[in-house]
Amino acid sequence: MAVLISGTGTNMMELLGACKSGELDAEVTFVGSDKSEAKGLQTAAALGVRTECFPYKEGKVVAEEAIAAMIDATATDWIVLAGFMRILSPEFVRRYAGRIVNIHPSLLPSFPGAHGIEDAWNYGVKVTGVTVHLVDEGVDSGRILAQQPVFITEDDTLETLEAKIHKVEHTIYKETLKKLFAENPAE
Ligand code: GRF
Repeated sequence: MAVLISGTGTNMMELLGACKSGELDAEVTFVGSDKSEAKGLQTAAALGVRTECFPYKEGKVVAEEAIAAMIDATATDWIVLAGFMRILSPEFVRRYAGRIVNIHPSLLPSFPGAHGIEDAWNYGVKVTGVTVHLVDEGVDSGRILAQQPVFITEDDTLETLEAKIHKVEHTIYKETLKKLFAENPAE
């Protein structure tokens, strides 16, 4: 699987660890980003994982062609988005239909978009959570594979809520991928 990130990459690190320990029967072919300064790229490279920054500055078409070339060259079966803040084009999604997975920090279909945790907090919901889903041509709208609720208590702040959400993400992503890979073995 390839992991695409834009930032810190804590989910990516969890997945790398799970592949290394054998908990996840998969290999990370490369970690890619739209941002050269993404902290997760350095962390992955320090662990000897192949990293790549894709040229979004030259436009989405060029960048996605580069991603696709890398996926095909490395015989990657799954594209795992872990905090990748770009919307993939319908053409790209169709090309890898059913093989792109995303994690989102809310209970979809509530609070899609770039600020799922904050939007749920500002709305004042008492239950939010984490969703792992397949990526389709919409935004955070693909088939839901797994969800886990996170309760917002009286003493929570946005920061403590973020921490609770991330903790759940780090478990649910590897567990869901484990099941997905087992149900859809590579040809
Ligand atoms: C996570 O909250 C994920 O749900 C969202 O982006 C964040 C990435 O965090 N899509 P990290 O880079 O894995 O720490």
